[in-house]
Amino acid sequence: MDKNIILIGFMGVGKGRAARELAAKTGLYTIDTDNLIVAMAKKKIRTIFAEYGEPCFRALEQRTADWLRHYVRNTIVSTGGGFFMVNNLRETGRIVYLHSSLDGILSALHSHPKAARKIRKRPLLQDADAARVLYDERLPLYRGVADYEINVEGLDGGEMAGQLIKTLQLQGDDQAPPVLPS
Ligand code: S3P
Repeated sequence: MDKNIILIGFMGVGKGRAARELAAKTGLYTIDTDNLIVAMAKKKIRTIFAEYGEPCFRALEQRTADWLRHYVRNTIVSTGGGFFMVNNLRETGRIVYLHSSLDGILSALHSHPKAARKIRKRPLLQDADAARVLYDERLPLYRGVADYEINVEGLDGGEMAGQLIKTLQLQGDDQAPPVLPS
């Protein structure tokens, strides 16, 4: 297996959490496209949106996708909610859409102890009505580009990883020793 595993889905659905748990269970490495962009631009996502505009952010996503396609193998990639719109995503790896209803996503976000920070860092989640429009627009697009879909509503990160292992038929082991000794 040298294909990457690309996790796509709406903001706040748990792509990063699922990726980290899947890495822990499989021993695969994981990277996150937003983190790659933040490191490369040396700016927070909301600063890039506010000072340079969304098209600039999308161009950085495309650059990240090109890099992934050329240089990254056998890695779990968690993506920003709009990353699925890059060109040639299918050449980057196996694509898994993590699905939840918008109400499920919002209620999990709002009940998180760091809810305010989690919402503040997402420019496209500032207005609930606009977020709903975006969700409805994107749902068929996520489904159109994905190789697999997993319903993750109400699941924690470990359960999402379990579903991913089953769906992608990966070797995973809950009993595997942790990377660092406890
Ligand atoms: C975006 C989702 C965000 C981030 C940016 C744009 C989107 O990532 O990439 O704010 O267009 O849906 P998360 O999905 O991790 O929130």
